[in-house]
Amino acid sequence: MTRAVEFKTSVATALSGMEITPKKLQELVGREKPAGQHHMRYTPADMMAARYHAAGLKVPSMEELQTADVRFPALVVTRMTKGGVGKTSLCVNIASTMAMMGYRVLVIDADPQASASNLLGVETASYDSHITHIGNFLTKPKADKEPDSDLPDAIEHIYGGGFLDLIPSDITLAESDASMVTLMASHARAHLFLNRNATFLSRHYDVIFIDTAPGTTPIGLAFTYAAKEAGKVLTVVEPEGSCLRALDSLASNLAEINTVTGAEVGMEVVINKYHPSLKHVRESMGFLYSKYGAMLNDSIVPQFTGFARQLNPGNRDAAPLVEVEPSSVGAAAIFDVAKSLIRSFGITQPGLPASE
Ligand SMILES: Nc1ncnc2c1ncn2[C@@H]1O[C@H](COP(=O)(O)OP(=O)(O)OP(=O)(O)O)[C@@H](O)[C@H]1O
Ligand SMILES: [Mg+2]
Repeated sequence: MTRAVEFKTSVATALSGMEITPKKLQELVGREKPAGQHHMRYTPADMMAARYHAAGLKVPSMEELQTADVRFPALVVTRMTKGGVGKTSLCVNIASTMAMMGYRVLVIDADPQASASNLLGVETASYDSHITHIGNFLTKPKADKEPDSDLPDAIEHIYGGGFLDLIPSDITLAESDASMVTLMASHARAHLFLNRNATFLSRHYDVIFIDTAPGTTPIGLAFTYAAKEAGKVLTVVEPEGSCLRALDSLASNLAEINTVTGAEVGMEVVINKYHPSLKHVRESMGFLYSKYGAMLNDSIVPQFTGFARQLNPGNRDAAPLVEVEPSSVGAAAIFDVAKSLIRSFGITQPGLPASE
């Protein structure tokens, strides 16, 4: 299940976020091309090494990373009231990009549709599939602050080396969503889960992505409240009318959460499926800039057919676009969004400063 991820020099250069020649990148990584191999193939561990070396630091081992300064991982919660806008596509591709960059990433699939799990290659459709989903932890009647001893077993390792892990979901998560309705303080349950497991999560991850279901579900609300730690959720819009109305309703939902709980949760908005030649797209862009300009991410993800190919079992196993078509225009846009989120969500690694 766990896969080794490798990519060519041009992809490594693009991921590095540095203006750098291939030769200089290889020097920073500090590894020779293996004998008998034509071209250098880079790994997430290489990209992490380049980042530490660029800062003039020794590269920590995985054990050292787990004992170094324990800082709660950055939290990126995707939320949108409308379905099908590309939340999961963006969440998983951005998470995979950061993992390829050598950050330690955990994805929590908080949608019973399990699209994020499927896109990462975890099969959840068979009748006898056995996974432990996040609902197991959100609905526990825990009065104490003891960590969940069954959390490590719920985690699937997607990339080798601890760079990309997943708490998968399946349709039975819908039962937890329903039972959350009658639970005490359901809105606080995700925050409580993260808090009581803070030591484990801080040791193993630099960033946690949570992919939520469309609409306003109890689990989605609980993670939105937990996003107060980041100060915002990540939302995805298509530039078209009903999506803009959905963005307004998400904004009022956030305002309500903030008023009732005293939290401060804003949003960062990524525009997806952009196609410049369509008139309604141009009009919607004007509206987005005038009403939500300050919250818009600078990068725009174009309409790109490669996103539709990701899940096509006819071609190959499901895998994120950035992994299988890392040189495509779609992947280039995702790389840009990932780099800007690293700055805006303050994502970093032990011993390294947060990037400007
Ligand atoms: N930039 C894009 N260009 C073309 N197709 C895209 C793009 N982004 C996403 N898609 C396609 O749009 C569909 C919906 O995407 P996705 O499942 O990521 O949306 P979602 O918001 O997570 O949906 P849901 O609300 O069901 O969770 C998928 O078929 C996906 O391949
Ligand atoms: Mg989705």
